[in-house]
Order: sequence, then structure tokens, then C-alpha cells
Amino acid sequence: MTLSQDVSTPTVMDILRQSTQDLHNDAEGQDFQKSLGSGTVNVPSYCNYLAQLYMMHSHLNKLLEGAAGDPRVSRVLKPYHLDCRCLERDLAHFHHDPAGIEPLASTSKIMDDLTAISLESPCGLLGALYVLEGSTNGAKFMAKNLRKGLNLPEESGASYFDRYGDVQRQNWLKFKEDMIACNFSPDECRELVKSARRMFQAFFEIGREL
Ligand code: HEM
Repeated sequence: MTLSQDVSTPTVMDILRQSTQDLHNDAEGQDFQKSLGSGTVNVPSYCNYLAQLYMMHSHLNKLLEGAAGDPRVSRVLKPYHLDCRCLERDLAHFHHDPAGIEPLASTSKIMDDLTAISLESPCGLLGALYVLEGSTNGAKFMAKNLRKGLNLPEESGASYFDRYGDVQRQNWLKFKEDMIACNFSPDECRELVKSARRMFQAFFEIGREL
């Protein structure tokens, strides 16, 4: 090994990426996610998906706000992470009232599991947030194909998938930087991975139920 080779220990973001790679591959290969990515999803399933995401995000938001006393959560969490207006706008585009939404079994399950994570280890919630924030990396192209496939305007219908617009890269880099600065212990890293894997599975299960 030469001195120029990188011998540094992996960061929490390397660990999260590597420990969830298999589930990301599964998600990419799932028929429902492929139908989103190609813009060929049927409208009722798509609306229900947005509704399920809305319930899940709203629940996680409440838990994250409740966990803001944890210094790691307060370091990483930004107001834009808690902003569900894109989902509200997209649901409104389809005249879908969030108040009348019933959770799927898989949505209820992930909401219960997130509550359990918040009680056990509040900073573990950041593992779930990692999945939602990381998904903005691949979702930009999804938004483009959904607009095309479902004949949607730029500003509503699929805005959730491009919710940060031009600052997506900047927000993602900031998330990574703040997570790394938290200096999570090995035990905390394990909690983060557990919660990230659980969140990935929830996407898979919701897609399967739709
Ligand atoms: C058709 C489905 C999908 C495609 C094509 C896709 C594609 C991508 C791409 C291109 C990246 C960027 C990789 C990079 O910059 O190196 C990415 C990152 C990511 N995606 Fe997806 N994605 C899909 C579905 C999902 C789903 C359903 C989730 C979970 C909600 C998800 C979560 C993530 C995460 C967490 C990252 C960040 C990985 C990291 O750098 O740590 N993706 N995805």
C-alpha cells in the first residue's frame, strides 16, 4: 500500500450508503418504482402513493420535532426537511384531500416502527431521514418522466420528486456534512443503519401493496 492510498475510516455516510445498497437495488428493480421512474404509473396508484408518503412524512416530522432536544437531531434537521407543501400541492392537483386518506398496512407499520425508534434512540430517526433525503438524488429524473407520462405541469402533480429544485445538490451535501460532524458512536451508527433499512423496506412494502 502506498502513502497516497486512502486509509481513512469510513464516515457515517459511507456506512449508511454501503449498508443499504442491497435495498436500494431492490427498490430500483421493483415494478412499482420502475413505473414511477418511467412515468407509466396509473393515476389512482400514484395518488395513493403520494397520500401514503404524506402520512409517513407528517408522522416522521412530528417525531423529529419532538426529538429536537437531541443535539445531533438539532444539528442535522432543517426547516426544509419538514416541509410537506410539495406533497400537499401534488395531492391537490389530483383533488385528493389528505384528510380522507386511509393508511395502508405497510404505512401504519412504518409509522409505528418510527415511533418505537424515537422512544428507543431519538437520533436513530436520522437514519430514516437519510433515506428520504437521499432519495432526492434519483428522484429528479423521476419528476421529469412523471410530468411527461402523466401530462403534468411543472409546478404541481410531481413536485415532491423535485422538491429542492436547483438546491438539491447543496442540501444533500449539507445533510452529509452535518451527519458526519455528529461523530456518531459505533452503537449509534448501528441504530442509524437499522432505521435506514427499515425505511427502505417500507418503500418496498408500500410499492408492493399499491
Ligand atoms: C426507480 C427507482 C430509483 C432510481 C432509478 C434511483 C436512482 C438513484 C440515483 C441515480 C442515486 C444517486 C447515486 C449517486 O449519486 O451516486 C440515488 C441515490 C439514492 N437513492 Fe435512489 N433511486 C430509486 C429509488 C429510490 C427509493 C425508492 C429510495 C428510498 C426512498 C431511494 C433512496 C436513495 C438514497 C438514500 C440515495 C443516496 C445514496 C447515498 O449516496 O448514500 N432511491 N438513487
